[in-house]
Amino acid sequence: MKSKLSIYLLSTVLLLSLKVNADPIYLDYQASTPVDPRVLEVMLPYFTKEFGNPHSTTHVYGNRAHEAIEQARAQVASVIGANPDEIIFTSGATEANNLAILGVSRALKEKGKTEIITVITEHKCVLEPIKALEKEGFKITILPVQKNGIINIADLKKALSSKTALVSVMTANTL
Ligand SMILES: Cc1ncc(COP(=O)(O)O)c(C=O)c1O
Repeated sequence: MKSKLSIYLLSTVLLLSLKVNADPIYLDYQASTPVDPRVLEVMLPYFTKEFGNPHSTTHVYGNRAHEAIEQARAQVASVIGANPDEIIFTSGATEANNLAILGVSRALKEKGKTEIITVITEHKCVLEPIKALEKEGFKITILPVQKNGIINIADLKKALSSKTALVSVMTANTL
């Protein structure tokens, strides 16, 4: 009886320690993903041999890096049917969202578009620049979402006007 109890206790402790030490399942691919092996293979030379600054076009190292970036820009553009000069590489989503939201809104303000619509579930890197635009005179509407996380289209229609500069709605929220 005593040995049965100690085996039971030992296995419980083992199970608990396995549970504590095991990595949780990573479900945050919105934030970061592993690099595709094909991307890694193409990129490796640029981390080791071809390390020139693409803006230093007075020497061959810079020129080669510049050419590689322009080739990548053209490839990305062709995948989504854009012009290469419409593709801007950024350090991540915060920089990209700030650039797009502040850039588009300020450009359209000159044309009388002074209203912005977004949703309460947006990431803070969208909500923060929008709050900054409110201080610049933009009218902001933050729509609620339904229980399933999706906006009510009737709410969106009501918020839209001829002065709407931008509507920002996230596709998925990982939180
Ligand atoms: C939906 C979403 N948007 C934006 C960000 C910010 O991304 P970054 O760290 O690349 O600036 C994250 C990061 O977790 C995110 O999950």
